[in-house]
Amino acid sequence: MTAAPGTELDQSALDALRRRATAAMEQAYAPYSRFRVGAALLAVDGTVDAGCNVENAAYPSGICAERAAVAGAVVRGVREFAAIAIVTEADVPTPPCGMCRQVLMELAPGLVVHSMTRGGASARWLMSDLLPEAFTPTSMGRA
Ligand code: THU
Repeated sequence: MTAAPGTELDQSALDALRRRATAAMEQAYAPYSRFRVGAALLAVDGTVDAGCNVENAAYPSGICAERAAVAGAVVRGVREFAAIAIVTEADVPTPPCGMCRQVLMELAPGLVVHSMTRGGASARWLMSDLLPEAFTPTSMGRA
């Protein structure tokens, strides 16, 4: 399956992405916050990279699930993305943090962001709404 940025995913594709994000969340290393996060990043070629948060005793050294997923894709040579699913154990769907928004915007300005709870609640945003007036390569005069 291929998926252009901004494409609406059908329910089965969304379910598959949610399952990958949930499995990733279960691998999270979050002994400090006890807030586990999983992400599943769908590339336009149909492949998926998962990530979880990995915390550290030196707190700022930790990484979020979304950025871990981006790193996994980039190391495979994949840089074009259609959608991301985020799963947490919170009662309400959680949007990506500011640092993750910045990283996602760099490579995937057209990304559709889906967030789900284990209880079945969900939310959906566009990157352009999550990070308006973003600083991007274009801001630096680069393509
Ligand atoms: N976290 C993520 O993994 N993604 C986000 O977008 C928000 C926050 C992680 C960072 C930290 O390990 C824990 O959640 C609590 O902030």
